Amino acid sequence: MEDSRIALPIGITLDRFIKNKQDEFQYATGELSQLLRDIALAGKVVNREINKAGLINIAGAMGTQNIQGEDQQKLDVLANIRFIRALTKGGEACAIVSEEDEEIVDLENDGKYVIAIDPLDGSSNIDVNVSIGTIFSVFRRVTPVGTPIRKEDVLQKGIEQAAAGYLLYGSSTMLVYTTGHGVNGFTYEPSLGEYFLSHPDMIIPDEGTIYSINEGSHNSFSDAVKSYIDHCKENRYSGRYIGSLVADFHRNLLKGGIYIYPPTEKAPNGKLRLLYECNALSFIIEQAGGRASTGTQRVLEIHPEELHQRVPLFIGSKAMVEKAESFYS
Ligand code: AHG
Ligand code: MN
Ligand code: MN
Repeated sequence: MEDSRIALPIGITLDRFIKNKQDEFQYATGELSQLLRDIALAGKVVNREINKAGLINIAGAMGTQNIQGEDQQKLDVLANIRFIRALTKGGEACAIVSEEDEEIVDLENDGKYVIAIDPLDGSSNIDVNVSIGTIFSVFRRVTPVGTPIRKEDVLQKGIEQAAAGYLLYGSSTMLVYTTGHGVNGFTYEPSLGEYFLSHPDMIIPDEGTIYSINEGSHNSFSDAVKSYIDHCKENRYSGRYIGSLVADFHRNLLKGGIYIYPPTEKAPNGKLRLLYECNALSFIIEQAGGRASTGTQRVLEIHPEELHQRVPLFIGSKAMVEKAESFYS
């Protein structure tokens, strides 16, 4: 067997990478590997749908006249269906928490893993041809296999994640994931239908000069957040905000920066969801040497109380997040 500690070369396929790394998984039985392959496959399908979005909109507009249901489905609902279908068929996941479903989806099988997923992140950007994403978080179920899923299987702290990742449907499509042994990024080559390792062992710069926040809500930010924004401006940082969390996060991961979604008047706990947005990205950023906080608490240590719970998020370069936190004390 090949030694998983040997750095794997840029250009190897995702499948081969997963196979080589399988012995790094704590309870390596191949199921987590298969689960990641299922997600990667669903990502290909969603990528294909997204690339046709402009055309689907045209077909949808015509469809309203002749009552053809399917083409009119919104992409976020469609993405949800694609991921749930792939995970159901795969058999490794026993339950799914999705942004698009109010309750836990119990797959009633013998799978060991629970998935939390934002099937389509940044959906307001679909219609304007801007990058969007998928975010996922993987936990081991804590109650016995074969019994009905319970809330405690799903409401686990982020530090318990077995894996987490995202797909970014951007100028190219990428899959970035961690199983707790660093972060690796793969670029999808559509004509070959394969993901290739393009960003091995991703590390976020400790410091950065990009801050990403929706400043339209400035008037309702707390004094701590306002002070940190002032600090960014005094230092002539660049403001960059796409409005797709995955895309903003990915840029900052590569270049160094901070993404903030603070409490606002409209969203007193912030807008982003702990289970399928914040936890996954917090696991990834910590694995890449960065930091994720609510301003006052490490995100990965929050014990979730509700499926769709929202938390404030400060995430990115370690020194920048620490600086932002310093305004709270
Ligand atoms: P989603 O499309 O999954 O609902 O998530 C949208 C989120 C996130 O992607 C983005 O960063 C944020 O909403 C933008 O919110 P504002 O428009 O309030 O800035
Ligand atoms: Mn989202
Ligand atoms: Mn979404």
